[in-house]
Amino acid sequence: MPSLFYTPAYIVHPFIGTPKFDETLKFYIDVLGFKPSDYIANVTAFLRSENRLHHSFAMRRSKEKEVAHICFAMKSLDDVMRGRALAVYDKIKIAADMANHSASKSIAFYIEDDKHGPRIELCDGHRRLTEEEHATAKPRRMSVDPRNIDIWRPAADDWHDL
Ligand SMILES: [Fe+2]
Repeated sequence: MPSLFYTPAYIVHPFIGTPKFDETLKFYIDVLGFKPSDYIANVTAFLRSENRLHHSFAMRRSKEKEVAHICFAMKSLDDVMRGRALAVYDKIKIAADMANHSASKSIAFYIEDDKHGPRIELCDGHRRLTEEEHATAKPRRMSVDPRNIDIWRPAADDWHDL
C-alpha cells in the first residue's frame, strides 16, 4: 500500500531571476542581512540566513524578473523519489531530472506545470552549515560548468535552465 505521508517538509528556497542582479544582491546582503554562500561566476548567487541552509534564497542574472523555481525539502530521498513517481504517473512535466548539486550537496529534481505557478524543485540533503561555518565561511566563486549544478553530469549545456 502506498505511503499516505507524502508531503514536503518545508520551503528551502525561492530562486529568482532579475535584470538588476547586482543591485538586488547588494540589497539582500546589506539590507536584509543574508550571507553569500557561493557564486557561480557573476550570474548566480546562493545566499543563506539564520537557518544556516546553504541557500535559503538564490538569484540569477536574467533578462526578465522571474521566479525561476521554488525548492521544497522532502523528508528523505525516498520521498523525493515518491514525488518523482507521482509526477510521472500524473503526467506532470519533469523539467529537469535527478541532479546532485555540488554547492548545497542536495539531490533534487524539478517539475513544472504552467497551470500551477513556478517550477518546483523537490530535494533531500540540502546542506545546513554549522554555527561556526555560518559565522566564518567565505563564498566560493564557482565556474560556469554544468558539473557545478550536477556532479553526476559529465557535460551539458542547459545548466542555466533550472
Ligand atoms: Fe534550487
